[in-house]
Amino acid sequence: AKKKVSAKVISQKILADGIYDLRLETEITEDAVPGQFVGVYTDDKSSLLPRPISICGVDKEKNELRLVYRVVGKGTDLFSKLTEGDHVDVLGPLGNGYSMEEAAGKTAILMGGGIGVPPLLELAKRLTRLPEDKRPKDIKIVMGYRNDQTFLADEFRKYAELYIATDDGSLGTHGTVIDALNEQNIEGDVIYTCGPMPMLRGIKKYAAEHNMKAYLSLEERMACGVGACLGCVVKTRDVDAHSHVNNARICTDGPVFDAEDVDI
Ligand code: FES
Repeated sequence: AKKKVSAKVISQKILADGIYDLRLETEITEDAVPGQFVGVYTDDKSSLLPRPISICGVDKEKNELRLVYRVVGKGTDLFSKLTEGDHVDVLGPLGNGYSMEEAAGKTAILMGGGIGVPPLLELAKRLTRLPEDKRPKDIKIVMGYRNDQTFLADEFRKYAELYIATDDGSLGTHGTVIDALNEQNIEGDVIYTCGPMPMLRGIKKYAAEHNMKAYLSLEERMACGVGACLGCVVKTRDVDAHSHVNNARICTDGPVFDAEDVDI
């Protein structure tokens, strides 16, 4: 269950330009699953709402929660100044995660773009650690970056083969993660993805054309992450014949959705 706690900063490092790796000691790790996020509070009096940041790693034994985020404004800039021993208020875990059952015995493709890369690291770890009958037969990882600052790439390689796409062509496929699928003839059954909206739209279309299941994390569209700003409404298919749900809030009903259920 979600809770608000004061978490202690274990460490913070810079992974790439504007990309930070923050490790916190907190019991939020207990029931956190890949695809979920936390709300991190600032001391900034002009905004009392937390900033949503996706979970990149969970180490239950050490009570360590790892957040890899991009500095995009005042809140995240304040987080980037946190150092060992500081305390920060964190609410979580929030939202729903990726459905891992779907991948049992199949080939899973993990696709991340930009700051959508980090949440897939914990997913890669968990998928490879599932009991044999629940585990995917094969995992392929395709990550898209702006340039050759391929943060977390070596960590993904511990779990499966990694394919890279870059916007500027400095490494791997020159283009999008979908260009990489085509260029490398990567095939699979289930896609797990997180990234910018145009990429998710492309993946939704690709999955439909190739008869694949796809789970999309729409976390990029969130602002407050706690149901307070209504900035994250997305149109959904009627998923329940009785309640006729046509709208969902990404932060409370997502951020992960079955691609078939959302209109993006
Ligand atoms: Fe604010 Fe969903 S992100 S209501």
